[in-house]
Amino acid sequence: MDNRAIGVLDTGVGGLTAVRSLRALLPGEDIVFFADTARVPYGGRDTDEIRALSMDCARRLAERAEIKFLLVACGTITSACLAETGGAAGVEAAGVIAPAAEAAARASVTGRIGVLSTEATARTGAFPRALEAARPGVEVVSRGNSALVPLIEAGRISAGDAELERAVDEAAAPFISAGVDALILGCTHFPLLTERFRERLPGVELINSGAAGAGECARRLAEEGLLNPRSAGGSTRCLVTGDTEGFCRLADIFLGGAFTAEKA
Ligand code: DGL
Repeated sequence: MDNRAIGVLDTGVGGLTAVRSLRALLPGEDIVFFADTARVPYGGRDTDEIRALSMDCARRLAERAEIKFLLVACGTITSACLAETGGAAGVEAAGVIAPAAEAAARASVTGRIGVLSTEATARTGAFPRALEAARPGVEVVSRGNSALVPLIEAGRISAGDAELERAVDEAAAPFISAGVDALILGCTHFPLLTERFRERLPGVELINSGAAGAGECARRLAEEGLLNPRSAGGSTRCLVTGDTEGFCRLADIFLGGAFTAEKA
């Protein structure tokens, strides 16, 4: 048993998809969410830069809060430097790639699986490798996308926003033509567009990478005897490197509920 907080790290509001699932799975845990909103997006940066930024965030998170475990709620950071990021925070870490790949491997009937991630994640080949490990022989259609994260960070997720609709059309097109039966939303920002993708890919199982990461984090805490003895009443604290009011406005649009944020 351990009543210290769980650290959760992402570049922006996307990581809240993991926070939401973690809250539901482990309502007694205190969560400290760190979002590098001043430097989002990471998805167009090179691996060395992603590593340096991620380790800086992990260190700052661990300086501000006593954490027992780190959930890297970001496909881009997971693919570039999961272990180093946990090391910089001084704790063990779980990411989103292996658990999302395992969920997709379970969900797919045909074995033809799509992955939509950031460009940086796609470049590493981490998702195809994890899918092959979870289900040898699987056919993977992987695409990187740079258009969606900036739109999501600007709060533009509603139906009828012409630029967003066009960007989602373009993002979904390769998976429609490949006929995948499961699609990993492999950047934690993308589950915020689940309804938009569902309209274009009816019948396709959409895998929420943030939720998959939260499941893996809960499993690891239980396995390692690190769960909080409380079963309810956990808190959520948000530390952001950018504008705190803008972050709270966005968080409320996406997830509802009153969020407060502190400057990291
Ligand atoms: N949410 C992040 C991910 O899961 C990264 C978005 C970005 O900063 O480009 O990949």
